[in-house]
Amino acid sequence: MKKIHIGLLGLGQIGGGLYEILHAKKALFARQLGVSLEIRRIAEKFPNRKRKVRPPKSLMTKDAFSVVRDPSIDVIVELIGGTRVARELIKEALRNGKHVVTANKALLAEYGDEIFELAHRKRRWLCFEASVGGGIPCIKALREGLIANRIDSIHAIINGTTNYILTQMTTRGTGFAAALAEAQHHGYAEADPTLDIQGIDAAHKLAILARLAFGGKVRFKDIHCEGITQISSEDIAFAKEFGYTIKLLAIAKKTKDGMEARVQPTLLPNSHILASVNGSFNAILMRGDETGDVLFYGRGAGPHPTASAIIADLVDIAKAGVAGPAEDRFLMRALGKTIPVKSIASILSRYYLRFHVIDQPRVLAGISKILGNHGISISDVIQRERSAGRAVPLILLTHDAHEKDLRAAIREIDRLPYVRSRSQVIRIEEA
Ligand SMILES: NC(=O)c1ccc[n+]([C@@H]2O[C@H](COP(=O)([O-])OP(=O)(O)OC[C@H]3O[C@@H](n4cnc5c(N)ncnc54)[C@H](OP(=O)(O)O)[C@@H]3O)[C@@H](O)[C@H]2O)c1
Repeated sequence: MKKIHIGLLGLGQIGGGLYEILHAKKALFARQLGVSLEIRRIAEKFPNRKRKVRPPKSLMTKDAFSVVRDPSIDVIVELIGGTRVARELIKEALRNGKHVVTANKALLAEYGDEIFELAHRKRRWLCFEASVGGGIPCIKALREGLIANRIDSIHAIINGTTNYILTQMTTRGTGFAAALAEAQHHGYAEADPTLDIQGIDAAHKLAILARLAFGGKVRFKDIHCEGITQISSEDIAFAKEFGYTIKLLAIAKKTKDGMEARVQPTLLPNSHILASVNGSFNAILMRGDETGDVLFYGRGAGPHPTASAIIADLVDIAKAGVAGPAEDRFLMRALGKTIPVKSIASILSRYYLRFHVIDQPRVLAGISKILGNHGISISDVIQRERSAGRAVPLILLTHDAHEKDLRAAIREIDRLPYVRSRSQVIRIEEA
């Protein structure tokens, strides 16, 4: 029987979920997988705090560094989160010859290079399936199932909080603030939801996925990131009229002149497979040169789905043999040259534009003229009924245009005397 001795850092939501599953299914894993997964020690800031799971007191310690240095431990599972102490603990674990499993996307997105390099140098496994898409085995798919492919694009809904909020806004007409409050009430959003609603959490995950998919370093700061705080019920309703759904998408794709990588609210045609991914669910659509589109769908967060991914990593490490050196060619691929990311100004896209304009003659002609001067052509228009001198919405969809031209045109339009508030710009993604 293959045995693996685990040091668990953090007994919060995910650590607790992991403990529960390992406790409940220990015999099953031993029987079916031939692996005995044993938690030897648990580090937690407040070991005596009342919580759902109650490990024996003898396993608990406050001192996480003593766990990562413990010679009886084979694998450290880091589940404390954050980028400061976790970074030091993981590096110390690797230096002490431990394999590491982590769900910490923020850490890997921002400090992946140094951690990947150290794991490679020390010949230790560094596994992080749970860091992207919770219970969805998308990293394993890149590592194994899609290995014959060159990945050309990723389009992903990888933040359950924002997908829940946008779904509520779309299906119920709820406003952003009310939908966020509802997400918090149901436990889909943190008390401080900044990382989620600003798109930063999705960008962390995209940085990890893109480097694995495209084989090279991707600098987190190069990923253009927009959240959903500026999306109104009005935008969602107008998008619907045109046959589109608004989703927060993480996009990485190869183009003739470089890689595009961004997180953005996006108008997707209702017929697009990601348009029907609702609630707190995640979905990752990858296009391989041999497979074509492959879709992964499931729970992107939560204690049990996330712990499921962590256990898969632990089983992989146990099967490879904890004693031997790790020769992780997949991780080495992700340590290749830095992949330059195209600036957002240089991308080509279709756009949804919403203006609030005073209802008077020649407004549409004035706006179209400015767009035309910048080489932008209109594909569709909704102009609301007349409302005698009051501000009314004017919605335009454009054909493909360069972002820098579009932004220059919008700056000009926003200065027009009959334009009443800053114009809304949302990119459209067709395929
Ligand atoms: N929640 C999800 O659905 C989800 C999904 C995918 C990935 N993740 C990732 O999984 C990781 C854990 O998330 P979580 O939701 O389980 O967080 P959490 O509930 O806050 O759990 C973290 C636990 O670690 C403890 N801790 C913090 N610093 C410590 C230290 N220096 N030594 C020992 N214990 C320490 C915390 O104690 P205090 O509470 O006292 O600070 C807390 O109990 C994060 O990296 C997160 O991004 C989470």
